[in-house]
Amino acid sequence: MKLFVTGGAGFIGSNFVRHILGANPQDTVLNFDLLTYAGDRSSLSDIERDYPDRYAFIQGDIADANFIEKLFATHLPDVVVNFAAESHNSRAVLDPSKFVQTNIVGTQVLLEGARRAGIGRFHHISTCEVYGDLPLDARQSFREDSPYRPRTPYNASKAAADHLVRAYHETFGLPTTISNSSNNYGPYQFPEKVIPLFITNALRDLPLPIYRHSENRREWIHVDDHCRALALILERGRPGDTYNVGTGEELSIEELADAVLAELRKPQGLKTYVDDRPGHDRRYLLDHSKIQSELGWTPQVQVREGLAATVRWYRDHRVWWESKVWSRDLDESAWARLT
Ligand SMILES: NC(=O)c1ccc[n+]([C@@H]2O[C@H](COP(=O)([O-])OP(=O)(O)OC[C@H]3O[C@@H](n4cnc5c(N)ncnc54)[C@H](O)[C@@H]3O)[C@@H](O)[C@H]2O)c1
Repeated sequence: MKLFVTGGAGFIGSNFVRHILGANPQDTVLNFDLLTYAGDRSSLSDIERDYPDRYAFIQGDIADANFIEKLFATHLPDVVVNFAAESHNSRAVLDPSKFVQTNIVGTQVLLEGARRAGIGRFHHISTCEVYGDLPLDARQSFREDSPYRPRTPYNASKAAADHLVRAYHETFGLPTTISNSSNNYGPYQFPEKVIPLFITNALRDLPLPIYRHSENRREWIHVDDHCRALALILERGRPGDTYNVGTGEELSIEELADAVLAELRKPQGLKTYVDDRPGHDRRYLLDHSKIQSELGWTPQVQVREGLAATVRWYRDHRVWWESKVWSRDLDESAWARLT
């Protein structure tokens, strides 16, 4: 299979490229990525070295219609897998327009290119956050047919993209699939997201900034489990369908900070409480019984073990993240200045 992967220099995309090339010796990957602050070609430097005939990289913007049309015509991919996105909620509060441009316009450009080129499968990576949030004591979880109620500009841009993907299937018959996954963690995640932020701060004895509503919970999935789910959906997912990819394993932000500090034997005093981001969702939880019963997927990594392995990975890969923490330009106290 010839895969055209967008956003493959980012966190989940780079893990997916490594997974698919390792698991399927016949597959080739063209990785198309703009290399924003969140993209790093070096995350796949071993792949570039080891698979020169099966892997190639091209820098570009998914919203560049002419370039996409030309690439689809010359490379004739069997499958497009769209990871490319602006992905950080906090940045979307400060500058929503970039999220609209990449996540919505960029997805539509890819869909249109795929439709014109007659591509056999378009898989779109989405998030649990499109469904909105749940009360902390809720007993229900989000199913694939739950209503969309996004609460932040990032979530709204992902929701709009999902609607476009579905519309291209219904209107034009493009063979699309969508996966909505819970919060990922694992190696190569840019250290602005909460788990690598906590780990890289703790490793440097810096404070762990925790939003005051520290009881807010997330459902965590190790990126390897997510990649296995994506490979199955590409292999056996039904065109037109959506699959929730979750684990049922929840940890509050406070529990997460405690686990990171315990793993690194750092003091509790590093925890520092800061104002919540506006629109900070309380809780998400996915019902993932569909992918379990229809495709036979189950998560294999327990969150406590996966978290400990992730802490060790960041401890052992300082070169990968050190320059990124210095270039981190996000001012999380900027909410106070928003009206
Ligand atoms: N991280 C999570 O917990 C999570 C959970 C559910 C869904 N998702 C979704 O998974 C996908 C990947 O997330 P991630 O955490 O790996 O994100 P990331 O920010 O680590 O990576 C995004 C990648 O997209 C690239 N990119 C950005 N704009 C682009 C453009 N216009 N054209 C081409 N490339 C562009 C970046 O350079 C980067 O390499 C996103 O669509 C995100 O919404 C993420």
